[in-house]
Amino acid sequence: MTFPSGFLWGAATASYQVEGAVAEGGRGPSVWDTFAATEGKVLDGATGAVACDHYHRYPEDIGLLADLGLNAYRFSVAWPRVMPDGRTTSGAGLAFYDRLVDELLGRNVVPVLTLYHWDLPQALEDAGGWPARDTAFRFAEYASVVHDALGDRVHQWTTINEPFCAAFLGYGSGVHAPGVQDHDTALVAAHHLLLAHGLATRALTAQARPGHEFSLALNFAPVIPDGNTPAHLEAARKFDGIHNRFFLEPVLGHGYPADVVSDVEYHGGRFAASVLDGDTDVIAAAIDWLGVNYYAPARVTPLADPFSPSNCPLPGLRGMDVLPAEGPLTAFGWEQSPSTLTSLLKWLSSQTGLPLVVAENGASFGDQVVDGRVYDAARVNYFMDHLAAVHKAIRAGVDVRGYFAWSLLDNFEWAMGYSQRFGLVHVDFETQRRTVKDSGRFLGRVAKANALGPTADGVGDAGA
Ligand code: FCB
Repeated sequence: MTFPSGFLWGAATASYQVEGAVAEGGRGPSVWDTFAATEGKVLDGATGAVACDHYHRYPEDIGLLADLGLNAYRFSVAWPRVMPDGRTTSGAGLAFYDRLVDELLGRNVVPVLTLYHWDLPQALEDAGGWPARDTAFRFAEYASVVHDALGDRVHQWTTINEPFCAAFLGYGSGVHAPGVQDHDTALVAAHHLLLAHGLATRALTAQARPGHEFSLALNFAPVIPDGNTPAHLEAARKFDGIHNRFFLEPVLGHGYPADVVSDVEYHGGRFAASVLDGDTDVIAAAIDWLGVNYYAPARVTPLADPFSPSNCPLPGLRGMDVLPAEGPLTAFGWEQSPSTLTSLLKWLSSQTGLPLVVAENGASFGDQVVDGRVYDAARVNYFMDHLAAVHKAIRAGVDVRGYFAWSLLDNFEWAMGYSQRFGLVHVDFETQRRTVKDSGRFLGRVAKANALGPTADGVGDAGA
């Protein structure tokens, strides 16, 4: 397999999942500090207070990434570090990201910066959180502050990671911070997250230097119905609508899909009222590439009664259930389906016409260090199959610019605490010792082989 020249070969992390040092450098509390400290919310009472101690160990971690042969690092900035109260800038907080970016550039690693990966300053949650329209405007201000500080060195900008999760898991099912359980509130939060993306993209585009690129990262769950009767197709339409199209369509400038809006309105109608004149134009702000986070497809089946509640806690889903995943599964119980990634990339390319970056893809397995080594053959296979799937899409003409493994390090996996290991690098959370896994070496070898140089036709001349 050869990939296009300039392809970004990277690994991703998120601030709350790896940094730790939650009370250092003047950082304020985030919704995830509060949520994790609440009994019963996170498995085994785990928190991100120490996590991978990346705040102190980032030179070692970036060294590992660079030594593997990867050329890009996707990380997120913690809003409560940069603005402890969500509004006032902290020089000490910015200084951390300054050091991080310099370290990356010093190792010839491209920084790919995500502005929001779910750690909302608690002060802004107290003022209403994402269900409050004002939060979107605060986000745009925060985005400008980070861009002013780092825009001389960071060219790749992602506004928001997975607004689906921030809205529907944070305010709908409540399994993520801040743990609100109300579908109508979740829909309003989703709108304000998308509005925040649009406002920030507009603001940053106006201040951009040549070469700056803007994006957002959406998580897609392609739908597989267990039959093809009209009822099956209707179940698939509903799930695809709320999971995928509800977030994609407005970003592309098509507004919210009418069928999804009518599915969700029965919750109380606050969503439609929250969309003010001009909002959909703001959300349609031009982006340079789309971040595609892909883990697994969803299998759905219709129920006999179209009004009966779904087993899936997403707004607007009635008359259908989500079916168990089919093997082979990861330790999380997620289905492994690389061919779905090929079809997703092809579909997104045809729908959006945008360059795509696989911003997250990966698998958790029960890794163990044996004699100083982690033989994670299952993850090597996972990456091999998913890279082949990406390559197939590229051969079919899809403009894919990069692939980021989730994750560089084993880390704090949200509600699952430290029970799910996704890293290319194993972390012993007692000692903070890092051990590169076989999968990390594998991905690095692919990256290095492809970096040997472009051929005349612009395609890397080295194979994996
Ligand atoms: C994604 C999140 C990321 C990580 C992976 C496993 O939805 O963006 O932070 O938790 O799932």
